[in-house]
Amino acid sequence: MITISNLTKQYGRNIILDNLSLSIKKGEVFGLLGTNGAGKSTLLSILATITKPSSGTVEVNNLNLLKEKKKARKIIGYVPQDVSLWENMTVKENLLFWSKFSKKKVETERLLELCQTVRLDDKWKEKVSKLSGGMKRKLNIAVALIHDPDILLMDEPTVGIDLQSKLEINQYIKKLAQSGKTIVYTTHDMSEILTLCDRIGVLKEGKLPFIGTLDDAKKRINPLLTAEQIMYKLLNDPL
Ligand SMILES: Nc1ncnc2c1ncn2[C@@H]1O[C@H](COP(=O)(O)OP(=O)(O)OP(=O)(O)O)[C@@H](O)[C@H]1O
Ligand SMILES: [Mg+2]
Repeated sequence: MITISNLTKQYGRNIILDNLSLSIKKGEVFGLLGTNGAGKSTLLSILATITKPSSGTVEVNNLNLLKEKKKARKIIGYVPQDVSLWENMTVKENLLFWSKFSKKKVETERLLELCQTVRLDDKWKEKVSKLSGGMKRKLNIAVALIHDPDILLMDEPTVGIDLQSKLEINQYIKKLAQSGKTIVYTTHDMSEILTLCDRIGVLKEGKLPFIGTLDDAKKRINPLLTAEQIMYKLLNDPL
C-alpha cells in the first residue's frame, strides 16, 4: 500500500532522512517512533505530499506521489502535528469547508458522525476559537477522516486529548485498520504504541535501524524485558 524507496530529505547540509526504504501493508497500523527531531514529521509530511523529498520515490496504492500528487491526495488523510483549522469558523463550517475538497459528496450526517466519534458533537455550532486545545486536536482528526481515506497519516494526533477520548479514538483507528485502511502513526505515548501498532519503525540519525513487531524487538534485544523496557531501549540504545 505504501512503498518508500531510497528516500532522502536534506535541509541544506543537514540530512534528515537518509536513503530510507520501507513497505507498509494494507490494513496495517505502522508506528513511527523516534526522539524529538528524529524526522517523523518530515517523513509523514512527505507521505502527505506537503514536503518534497530530495531524492527517492514513494508510491501509495501504486500511485507515484510526485507524479500523481492530485490522485494520491484523494486517498490520503493527514493529521498534522500542528493543528490546522479556521479559527473564525464553527466546527460545522470547518468540516463543511474541508469536505468541499473531497471527490465524493459528503453528507452532513457523516460530518456529525465524525464529530460524535471524536466526542465533539455538542460543539457542532461552536467557533473553533472558543474550543479548548484538546477539542481542536479532536477536530483536527475529524477533518482528516472526512473523505474516508484509504491511508491515514497521523502525527501525534492524541497529544493533549483526555484519556477516555484517546481510548475511543484508538479503538476507532483499530476498527479503520480492520476495515482495510492503512495507518501510519507517530506518538511518544508507549501505551498507545503497544495497544495500537502492528509494527513499529524506529527513526534514528535519518535511518530506520529497527522495523518489526514488538516480539521481533524482544527477540533482538532481550526476551526477558517488559514491553516498556524494550521500547526505551529501542529509542535510546544503539541498535
Ligand atoms: N523546514 C525546515 N527547514 C530546516 N530544517 C527543518 C525543517 N523542518 C524540519 N527541520 C529539521 O528536521 C529535523 C526533523 O524534524 P521533524 O519535525 O521531522 O522531527 P520529529 O521527529 O517530528 O520531532 P518531534 O518528536 O519533536 O515532533 C529537525 O532537526 C528539524 O529541525
Ligand atoms: Mg514531529
